[in-house]
Amino acid sequence: MDEQIKTKVEHLRKELNRHNYNYYVLNAPEISDFEFDMMMKELEALEHDYPQLDDPLSPTHRVGSDINKAFTQFVHKRPMLSLSNTYSVEEVDEWFERVKSGLSGEAFEIVGEMKYDGTSISLTYVNGRLERAVTRGDGERGDVVTDNVKTIRSIPLQLQGEGYPDEFEIRGEIVLPWKEFDRLNAEREFNEEPLFANPRNAASGTLKMQNSAEVAKRGLDAVFYYLLGDNLPADTHYENMQIARSWGFKVAPIMELLHGINDVERFINHWDGARKELPIATDGLVFKVNNLRQQLNLGYTAKSPRWAIAYKFQAERALTRLQEVSFEVGRTGVITPVANLDPVLLSGTIVKRASLHNEDIIKTLGIHEHDMLYVEKGGEIIPKITGVDDAAREPDSKPVEFIKECPVCGTALVRVEGEAAWMCPNKYGCVPQICGRIEHFVGRRMMNIDGIGEEMVVLLYRNGWVRDIADLYSLDDHRSEMLLLPGIGPRTVDRIIEGIEASKKAPFERVVYALSIPYVGETGAKKLARAVRNIDALMSASAEQLTAIDDIGPRIAESIIDFFAAQENRDIINRLKIAGVTMSMPDEEEGEGSDKLSGKTIVISGTFLHHSRDEYKEIIERNGGKNAGSISKKTDFILAGDNMGPYKREKAVSLNIPMLSEDEFLELISE
Ligand code: IVH
Repeated sequence: MDEQIKTKVEHLRKELNRHNYNYYVLNAPEISDFEFDMMMKELEALEHDYPQLDDPLSPTHRVGSDINKAFTQFVHKRPMLSLSNTYSVEEVDEWFERVKSGLSGEAFEIVGEMKYDGTSISLTYVNGRLERAVTRGDGERGDVVTDNVKTIRSIPLQLQGEGYPDEFEIRGEIVLPWKEFDRLNAEREFNEEPLFANPRNAASGTLKMQNSAEVAKRGLDAVFYYLLGDNLPADTHYENMQIARSWGFKVAPIMELLHGINDVERFINHWDGARKELPIATDGLVFKVNNLRQQLNLGYTAKSPRWAIAYKFQAERALTRLQEVSFEVGRTGVITPVANLDPVLLSGTIVKRASLHNEDIIKTLGIHEHDMLYVEKGGEIIPKITGVDDAAREPDSKPVEFIKECPVCGTALVRVEGEAAWMCPNKYGCVPQICGRIEHFVGRRMMNIDGIGEEMVVLLYRNGWVRDIADLYSLDDHRSEMLLLPGIGPRTVDRIIEGIEASKKAPFERVVYALSIPYVGETGAKKLARAVRNIDALMSASAEQLTAIDDIGPRIAESIIDFFAAQENRDIINRLKIAGVTMSMPDEEEGEGSDKLSGKTIVISGTFLHHSRDEYKEIIERNGGKNAGSISKKTDFILAGDNMGPYKREKAVSLNIPMLSEDEFLELISE
């Protein structure tokens, strides 16, 4: 093969790695994104034309792959221990004294670092190349997550500089910076997916995703704080980390040499406040003895090193007065008590309300009227009431009583057996429950009806046009009345009516979820729909039949039976049927298969309305086609849903591969 090509490929890889490093580690790009993309394209084209030059560590492979696979486990060469925690300066002082006597009075230095709040990772490099990435797991063995870790651009796949041992391990924290965390949660909110409570959960959840192409989109980053191996370049932790930085690692940027306990205390006092300005979540500080020989002398307890200690920050807490406890009624009738507070500043936001969840929590905390309450945010985004300042209680203040009647419709509440929740049983007459169900029905992951949000539901309800979900399908009769509403023009009305019309095609499994059957979530609805195939079978299913379905337990079965026993619900179902809403899984005919896709290789990308990705996979195979994970010259076409990744789109365009929309594809196979 042409030596020139090989040199060119190597040069491009080296340059791309360097620019990645400049951009993701140093935050100092030398070239524009466009120039970077052009170089990447050139390398991709060469690797494509000369597959013998491919390398799994090439920067072109950082985008991840669609292949799903369970993780394999790896036994850590050296166990991944944790640090013992301290919560006060006094406890840190005590540790310092223990180190002093452990070293028999010998002089020592301490390194002060941030304790990053993410998920720990161990990377092994052999001859300068990333060999594997393993999670902490139980400390003895963890999951091999190399493919996912390779998508993190600040992690070097091939080291730069010199002097690294033939084989070594570097440990650090995989983190999701606040900016990416906020972006991800905003996106999840839009898609009506549950939010991540904190960046730590988001980082560990992301790292364990099966699809590394998805991981690549999440914006993970990594910081490193521990080098392990037999032939480390220096005798001290601090120096080793500085040298590791020269090999291309994003070494923890806050790392300070401290001489004596005064320095340690100053470090704590400074970072207790200053950490709030950092772009990454931290939950404390870490102090380590700098000298490796001294570390060895001090040794380990069963769980943690004696040469290091963590100092945990106090979760941010504020004290504020309870104005009153209000009670909210949800879609399922559950009553949630909410503490309305005198506004107070906490971790940069003003907190005025905090959920008290249920009656038991009010009792356990012993909350009285107008009490002074402690509100905490910790690493969580949702404020939490964690305690009461008993000393500040007004003398004649009474304990907060849970209400006995629904705050909206006045019906006597009932307590669900075995649960802490109180419920309003007036399902068909209690406005927030009715509106809540309508709102759920139109949601993106259910019937996906555009243009109807919370306010619009209330408006439609108040005017008497939509009193239940089935009324939506005769909303067209009220078109002229709707146009009289302030601020609502023909465009809005058209959009709503079109959305309602289109929702008739929503697949049966979404309809089951949209019905708001208590305890039937998205996954449960899917399993039910696939097992029973149509609404009549679901309505008449016995408890035995239902519990025979995967993941459907007795509580869900009972709830389904109760739901369909109510005449109100049976009427609604009937009206939905008449309106033409999908009430069964696709006909068996469509399932029989054909050879329409025979010999065709198809890549699925994006999100879909009518079927899940797995179902499309099945449909492709049933019709003689082959589903492939990544786009190549051999791909015949792409089944392209919404939100197809930009990389795939670009690749499809550059290879001139046709993209079929979901509807076009369904038409093709039903022709
Ligand atoms: S050193 C043998 N340094 O905290 C000790 N750990 O409870 C090796 N962590 O599992 C860990 N920031 O995930 C070290 N600057 C830092 C850290 C840090 C966060 C995490 C790490 C470890 C846990 C220990």
